[in-house]
Order: sequence, then structure tokens, then C-alpha cells
Amino acid sequence: MTRKKILVTGGAGFIGGNFVQYMVNKYPHYDIYNLDLLTYAGDLTKHREIENKENYYFVNADIADSDAIITLFKKEKFDYVVHFAAESHVDRSITEPEIFVRTNILGTQVLLDAAKQINVTKFVHISTDEVYGELDFDPTTFFTEETPLQPNSPYSASKASSDLLVRAYHETFGLPVNITRCSNNYGPFHFPEKLIPLTISRVLNEEKVPVYGDGKNIRDWLHVFDHCAAIDLVLHKGANGEVYNVGGHNERTNIEVVKTIIKTLGKSEELIEFVTDRLGHDKRYAIDPSKLERLGWQPIYTFEKGIAQTIDWYLNNKWWWEQIISGEYQNYFKKQYTLENH
Ligand code: NAD
Ligand code: TYD
Repeated sequence: MTRKKILVTGGAGFIGGNFVQYMVNKYPHYDIYNLDLLTYAGDLTKHREIENKENYYFVNADIADSDAIITLFKKEKFDYVVHFAAESHVDRSITEPEIFVRTNILGTQVLLDAAKQINVTKFVHISTDEVYGELDFDPTTFFTEETPLQPNSPYSASKASSDLLVRAYHETFGLPVNITRCSNNYGPFHFPEKLIPLTISRVLNEEKVPVYGDGKNIRDWLHVFDHCAAIDLVLHKGANGEVYNVGGHNERTNIEVVKTIIKTLGKSEELIEFVTDRLGHDKRYAIDPSKLERLGWQPIYTFEKGIAQTIDWYLNNKWWWEQIISGEYQNYFKKQYTLENH
């Protein structure tokens, strides 16, 4: 089999980290380069089981640093780029939007330019369903690839902008690209400021769980392993220039998610604390994944199976998340939940 070089940006984060592990283990004949700036969201301890493998490499760099990126691309001549690196938390985008513009928009443009210069075989841009804005509560409506982009948060606006740049590099320069737009992910190594790992870690510590507004907002949850398989398929089989939505029809209200976790851990619902709603809080996300299914993808995890696996993982891997919530995270948590700016 032909040896390939794959650059994964943001491979020290949640989804990129799971994807790096999936690729290193599945494709021993691919060299996987994990490029990451190691912001608050990135950590390499998650890769202790693969870090000594011969097909794994780490590069510490900033995707918005064009000199470093062009030099690296010219040296390594990557075949594929799978681009996850981003600022990814809606709440942080409300308090500090500038960094979202720099990393998500400028960083993507720098990578596209480098990919064009070395003629990569494929550039897969990992985007989000949040670029479509929000749906109302009618359960028969879904985001399709044709839904207009109507982002509501600085995070989703920056992701939509990067999607448009990816499209433009395909239309203008013929760069072979795909864009995937996935619903909310959950699973191992999810940073504990997002709803599911925040709830698991706080319930385990018998701490209050902040639920925004009335808790009735709906998210469509996909296990990260199903997302990794979808990206693998798009990387190898996606038609150039196409967008693929990724989701498994697992819609749940936030309060249902929180109550499921509390029940599984055998704790009291008195831990739930309703707090001031997030500004511009999108009501509902729901994905129509039929285009990706026609390409050959099917999710493996129902929400029930996936959340049970995830809770088990957090119970068995306290070494990972306890080091995170004991550091700088404490300051973030105090600031976020006392200023009531969500
Ligand atoms: P994450 O925040 O866990 O990880 C982001 C990673 O990018 C971190 O390792 C961070 O260090 C790195 N990074 C940030 N700025 C960088 C820079 N300037 N240069 C290099 N590396 C940098 O994010 P995630 O949840 O794993 O999301 C990954 C991608 O998937 C993002 O593009 C996000 O928009 C998209 N996405 C996420 C979800 C979700 O539910 N988490 C759903 C759909 C799509
Ligand atoms: P989050 O995990 O931040 O993902 P996203 O905003 O990208 O969907 O939030 C998921 C949902 O949970 C969202 O509707 C906001 C809500 N939420 C809370 O109710 N409380 C919290 O403390 C957090 C972080 C999120």
C-alpha cells in the first residue's frame, strides 16, 4: 500500500485527538502529523498510548503563522490535510471574539494557501452544523447541505467564514476540498467546559450543574467515534468540492441530557441549577445526514449506548480530566458562571 502523509491540525484537542488515535491505529502505512498550538484546549497527555508509534509525529505550531506553515508544507509535502484546529467554544466566543476571527478564519486561509502551493490530494475542513443557525422546535425540520448559512454566534460566524474560504479555494484554484458539518460531539477526552463532560465531572464531585435558561434547547448528539469514521470516509471517498452533513438523529433537550447523566451516576436532580441563559442561545440543531449515508456511512452509537460508554470512560480516566479541572480551568469557571455573561 502507498505510504501517505496526513496533516491533522488541532490533533491535541477533543475531536482531532480522537481522529489522530483512530488514524494512527487504523492506518499503520500512513504517517500522521498532529499540528497543534496547545492552547487551553489542547493537551498531549491524551496521546500517551500512541506517542511512541512510528507513524505518529507532533508539530507545535500556530495555523495562523504563515511562514511556519508554508515552510512545514514545503518540507513535508503532505498528501492530505484534515483541518480541525479552531477556537471551538460558543461561550468563549461571546466574551473574546477576536481570537475566533484570527484562528478560525485567518488560520484556515493560511492552511488553504499552503495546501494550494504543494497541490495536496485532499483538504478536509471540519466544520459544524452551527453555521446553519438555529431550527425551531418542529421535529420534522432538519439542516441539509442546502440550508442557507445563518450563523448566530461569533463562533459559528467564524466557522461559516472559514467554510466560505474553503469553497472559494475550490472554485477559484481547483483545490480538492470537502467540508463536513457535524452536530454536537461527545465521548472520550471531551474538554470539561462543554455540557456533557462538565455535567459528568461536576456530578461526580457532587457540585451544582449550571443549565442555561429553561434547559429546553435541543442538540443533536453524535459519538466522536462515529464522527471519526465519517471523516475517514469523506477523506477517501468524498467528491471534490462537496459538503457533507454528519449527524445520527440523537436529538435531546439539554435537561434530558443532564438528567440522564445524573440518573446513571445515581445522584440527585437537586444538583441541577438553572442559570441565566446564554446570549443568542440557538434553540435547536438537527441534522439530515442522508447525503453522507449515500456515501456509505452509518453511525454505530445510539445516544443511550454512547452516553453509557462516555460516563464509564470518565469514571475510568479521572487522571485525564482531574488534571484539567484543577488548573486554569478554575478561573475560567468562576468568571463564566459568576459574571452571568452567557
Ligand atoms: P477543541 O477546542 O477541543 O480543540 C481545538 C484544538 O485546536 C486544540 O487542541 C487547540 O490547541 C488547537 N488550536 C487552537 N488554536 C490553534 C492554532 N492557532 N493553531 C494550531 N492549533 C490550534 O475543539 P473540538 O471540539 O475538538 O473541535 C474540533 C473541530 O471540530 C473544530 O473545528 C470545531 O469547529 C469542529 N466541530 C466541533 C464539534 C463539537 O461538538 N465539539 C462539532 C462539530 C464540529
Ligand atoms: P456546548 O457543550 O457549549 O455546545 P454548543 O454550544 O456548541 O452546542 O453546549 C451544549 C448545550 O448545553 C447548549 O445548548 C448550551 C447548554 N449549556 C448549558 O446549559 N450549561 C452549560 O454550562 C454549558 C457549557 C452549556
